[in-house]
Amino acid sequence: MSTFRSVVRGVGAYLPARTLTNADLALMVDTSDDWIVQRTGIRERRIAAEGEVTSDLALNAARVALADAGLEPADIDLIVLATSTPDNTFPATAVAVQAALGITRGAAFDLQAVCSGFVYALATADTFLKSGSFRRALVIGAETFSRILDWSDRTTCVLFGDGAGAMVLEAVEHDGDAAARGVMTTHLRSDGRHKHKLYVDGGVSSTRSVGFLRMEGREVFRHAVGMITDVIEDAFAATGVDAQTLDWFVPHQANRRIIDASAHKLGIAPEKVVITVDRHGNTSAASIPLALAAAHVDGRIKRGDVVLLEAMGGGFTWGSALIRW
Ligand code: ACO
Repeated sequence: MSTFRSVVRGVGAYLPARTLTNADLALMVDTSDDWIVQRTGIRERRIAAEGEVTSDLALNAARVALADAGLEPADIDLIVLATSTPDNTFPATAVAVQAALGITRGAAFDLQAVCSGFVYALATADTFLKSGSFRRALVIGAETFSRILDWSDRTTCVLFGDGAGAMVLEAVEHDGDAAARGVMTTHLRSDGRHKHKLYVDGGVSSTRSVGFLRMEGREVFRHAVGMITDVIEDAFAATGVDAQTLDWFVPHQANRRIIDASAHKLGIAPEKVVITVDRHGNTSAASIPLALAAAHVDGRIKRGDVVLLEAMGGGFTWGSALIRW
């Protein structure tokens, strides 16, 4: 019996034009370039222009991914868009992207798992494609976190930025060959007992407002490395891949120290780790496809390479995915 595997056809990224450097932030709150670089590795982030909304960023990234795949919008029958900063409470930001691309068939919906959003969206799209329900999916992570930051709170406003990334996945018949291209495995987790450690203090049903991001940074840091490495061990156990046979590690770009500590604990060589957090800060659900696109465009990730994705974020939610590119 033939089954399907979700093969990566293309990736794309988009960052808003305006750059906000650490030096710029030091004029706004009591911080310094030294403190931010030492604690996080972040040097600058991008901020969406007035009137530029999440779907605009997503649309730009989706167009680049489609061009990279050599496909037209009409080839897409599923859009899964991960965001915690939608254009509107409803309808989904995904349908705004669908309409702007001129797609009138299939399904489009949003998914919310904060910084783990892209891994959750990838796992969701992969499940639909493997089941034969849809043929080609756009998996998008897009955020305008600048709109939910308290710009007077130096403990959070220095960490985040705006951006979007997209991936085109195609269902390809699979005869069971483990070496075939495509998504090899995905693992998702959450533990709502930690929901107050990283949250937004407003919402439609609770305050009828949007609210601002609040975080117990030390608590997040304390849990991050353990959760990340656990779910990566699951991916390794499911596939037989390990730190040595892996080609690329493309983690959620939240904090350089979390990335380095996770790679070190797993025994992944530093030269296999893709890092872009210095250029765009933590863009939540957008960060993994932004990093993937960077390493794809500069030729590091090549066809047949084994690529490990990982994310952890509010909820807490966390997850991993292994892809043969
Ligand atoms: N500039 C200067 N000083 C600052 C700043 C700042 N921007 N922010 C906090 N400080 C001060 C604090 O007030 C504190 O001062 P005090 O000692 O006088 O009280 C001091 O720096 C140390 O503060 P800590 O919170 O202990 O600093 P820490 O070393 O833990 O670094 C950080 C803070 C960077 C937030 C760290 O805890 C972290 O990286 N946590 C993970 C958070 C994260 O990545 N979240 C993203 C979402 S979740 C995810 O994506 C994985």
